[in-house]
Amino acid sequence: MLHPHLDSVLLTADDIQARVRTMAHAIDADFAEDDRVHLVCVLKGAFMFLADLVRAMSARVTVDFIAVSSYAASTTSSGEVRVLKDLDARLQGRGVVIVEDIVDTGLTLRYLQALLRTRSPRVLRTACLLNKPSRRQVDVAVDYVGFDIPDRFVVGYGLDFNDRFRGLPYIATLAPANVIRERRPPAP
Ligand code: PRP
Repeated sequence: MLHPHLDSVLLTADDIQARVRTMAHAIDADFAEDDRVHLVCVLKGAFMFLADLVRAMSARVTVDFIAVSSYAASTTSSGEVRVLKDLDARLQGRGVVIVEDIVDTGLTLRYLQALLRTRSPRVLRTACLLNKPSRRQVDVAVDYVGFDIPDRFVVGYGLDFNDRFRGLPYIATLAPANVIRERRPPAP
């Protein structure tokens, strides 16, 4: 049974697994000439997508992690991007794929792409599981898109709301009443 704070399942675990496999094969094909693909996972939301992507790829992969913060404890993007944890390894000359869970306004991804380009990768591509085209504020290139979704607050498969629901194997929409209730500041 669905958690009472959730509205409905938008993407089932099977939908996600099938799509991630297709994306993995597309990345494999595009980097077929390379001896390895370096995947940069954007924490925290993309950790589950990364784990499934890596297992579905046949190319030799290396992984690294970057953490950025673009959202306050609310459902809207502040537009502010801060690097909370930087990469461990250099990108120079490497075939790099940014692995993101969701592109909403595009502000985070635009910032990340610009930042990582300054580190001179040979190729820089982006894989994003979820895309909300109707929310876009800036133009960003996404090479591998899992699903275009409507403008609803989604949780599960790594995505959270106030740090809840990341462990769900599917992606669900949050019930609107809960979005409103949980956005209120706590009582004094
Ligand atoms: C999400 C997502 C992107 C960003 C997209 O991260 O992982 O990084 O928001 O939004 P934008 O296109 O409007 O910039 P979030 O801030 O929720 O952090 P988390 O992944 O650590 O939960």
